[in-house]
Amino acid sequence: MIQNTKKRIFSGVQPSGNLHVGNFLGAIKQWVGMQDEYDCIFSVVDYHAITVKYDPKVLRKKIIEIAKIYIAGGVNPEKAIIFQQSDARAHTEFCWILNAVSARISDLNKMTQFKDKAGKGNVNVSVGLYDYPVLMAADILLYDTDIVPVGDDQLQHVELARDLAKRFNHDYEEIFKIPEPKIMKQGARIMSLDNPEKKMSKSAESEFSRIELLDESALAMKKIMKATTDTGAEVKFNSKEKPGISNLLTIYSLLANIDIKDLEKKYSGIMYGEFKKDLAEVVAEFLNDFQKKYNKIDDSQVAEILAAGAKKAEPIAEETLVKVKITIGVK
Ligand code: TYM
Repeated sequence: MIQNTKKRIFSGVQPSGNLHVGNFLGAIKQWVGMQDEYDCIFSVVDYHAITVKYDPKVLRKKIIEIAKIYIAGGVNPEKAIIFQQSDARAHTEFCWILNAVSARISDLNKMTQFKDKAGKGNVNVSVGLYDYPVLMAADILLYDTDIVPVGDDQLQHVELARDLAKRFNHDYEEIFKIPEPKIMKQGARIMSLDNPEKKMSKSAESEFSRIELLDESALAMKKIMKATTDTGAEVKFNSKEKPGISNLLTIYSLLANIDIKDLEKKYSGIMYGEFKKDLAEVVAEFLNDFQKKYNKIDDSQVAEILAAGAKKAEPIAEETLVKVKITIGVK
């Protein structure tokens, strides 16, 4: 096993669609808080992004954009490894091995995200979309990962990575650590603004469902003012009975660093409209600050950071892959 003194975390974001506050609050924000305590590896998982229809010219730009968002969001490339998944070939090679020796059709048939994305009568979706959780398991296991900080929609995929590691260890040799998922208590599932029963998503049709990290602040404020609220008039957290207001309270609390209890006190007896106006200001301030940092980062500098990250990530992944190849008898 690779010797580290610090525990290792691995996570990633797909360079598809436009990143939103859900991605930031559920994933990137928690990564940033873990950088000093953990040995961190954050990937831009481009081979996941090609499993659905995409435009190759846009993809290249998105890869750089995601890395810039990591950095503007507070990931420090001097502390954490930031790299592009396709730069480390071990990921796809190991994915093939896991497909062959550890993953079962019955595992993948359980994946709810595949069912949601593929829809009914899913004959026209790619084999890659179906196999996507195995590539994610390969990402995680190659780095001897202890902890995987993600939003709650990725929990089932991390559990699959655990199952595949256990199965491999059982069938061959104990070479994998069993990674633990880490899900934030608050922010792990930011809901859609126009339908608070659904999670905020990059791929939802209506842009009024999400606040994108690169939205102009005036547009983002409009989105908050138009957000679906609940019947009743009290600004109170109750995710079952008041999913709309509860979601807005969560976003407010995390962006402004104020406890939900304190927000409830502050807005006691105050109408939804006033609460939304204040939240719109909080969101605008967050976006302005975030985008100021984002705009200062130069694309060529990011390409260099990714190249340097790949140089550090590749040998770690390669070492695990060699061990796997020896274990399964091909080397
Ligand atoms: P992706 O690109 O869909 O999402 C990136 C991260 O954002 C989180 N997230 C949310 N968190 C809170 N509320 C939401 N509404 C919300 N929507 C998304 C996701 O949970 C995720 O943490 N398969 C992964 C990428 C991946 C990966 C990995 C992650 C590939 N390999 C290895 C960890 C480890 C994905 O598609 O995330």
